[in-house]
Amino acid sequence: MYKSISIIGAGIIGGAIARILARKKIIDKIIATRRNLDKIRDLEGLGVVITSDNIWAVENSDVVIVSVKPNVLTNVLKEIKEVAKGKLLISVVAGVPINVIEKIVPGTRIVRAMPNIAVLVGESFTVYSFSQNVTDEDKEFVDILFSSIGIGIEVEEKYLNAYTGLTGSGPAYMSTFIEAMVYAGLKVGIPRDIALLGATQVAIGTGKLIRDGGMHYAKIKEMVVTPAGTTIEGLFELEEIGLRRGLMKAVYAATQRAEDISKNKGNAEA
Ligand SMILES: NC(=O)c1ccc[n+]([C@@H]2O[C@H](COP(=O)([O-])OP(=O)(O)OC[C@H]3O[C@@H](n4cnc5c(N)ncnc54)[C@H](OP(=O)(O)O)[C@@H]3O)[C@@H](O)[C@H]2O)c1
Repeated sequence: MYKSISIIGAGIIGGAIARILARKKIIDKIIATRRNLDKIRDLEGLGVVITSDNIWAVENSDVVIVSVKPNVLTNVLKEIKEVAKGKLLISVVAGVPINVIEKIVPGTRIVRAMPNIAVLVGESFTVYSFSQNVTDEDKEFVDILFSSIGIGIEVEEKYLNAYTGLTGSGPAYMSTFIEAMVYAGLKVGIPRDIALLGATQVAIGTGKLIRDGGMHYAKIKEMVVTPAGTTIEGLFELEEIGLRRGLMKAVYAATQRAEDISKNKGNAEA
């Protein structure tokens, strides 16, 4: 199994991955890079080596995670191209297909992954796809890696833009829902902090009931709704605003946008 990993672009996502890998001792040696090292000084306390030298970082690691913004990806890949040869390269960059990365850094084994911001608390939902040449050892390592930051599953690459729209952007939709619940709580006179605690616990509790308790969402509604009760009054209003249709349209639009970005990247000169 691999002994060292470098994370190129230790910002929000890359930095969070470095922190979790270090705390959980998933791998012996972690190197994290970015230009402004003052922002990741805390990583040193966790035993992570920090540097702005991407080439040195890649040279000294078995596996490379690239977590820079899409607009600087090509330059960063060109920079590490020679030293990355023969290595496992994991990109968490949104919208950039495996074949585009392959063209810029030939001779690497590539993983394209889509985590979400809940990686900050180790609760990401991460989907990932492999290039043809990844080995069983690579796959085993990637499964362990993404399971350590939440739930990770392998998917077909053709669905990655759809997951980007659904689970990559999902925390933004859920945050909007929770914000609305908190405002609703304020409207009916509940103190802000308790409304926030209540709204988040309802989201977490319902999620666990469905995922871990094996209860269907339709069944939960049936159990909560009673004739002429309070919940049916609330659901009646929700029907009017079309919450479900709104969410479906949001995910569809985000997926289309991810498709557009991928197409542009695919056409971009490597
Ligand atoms: N945020 C999300 O919810 C989310 C979800 C899924 C996937 N993603 C993907 O994850 C990637 C990172 O997103 P993020 O939100 O973590 O962005 P971010 O916080 O801006 O992190 C990117 C980091 O790259 C560093 N960087 C820029 N140029 C560099 C270079 N030449 N060498 C080394 N490091 C360099 C930047 O630090 P310096 O300026 O100090 O160099 C920055 O900290 C993006 O491609 C995004 O598509 C993000």
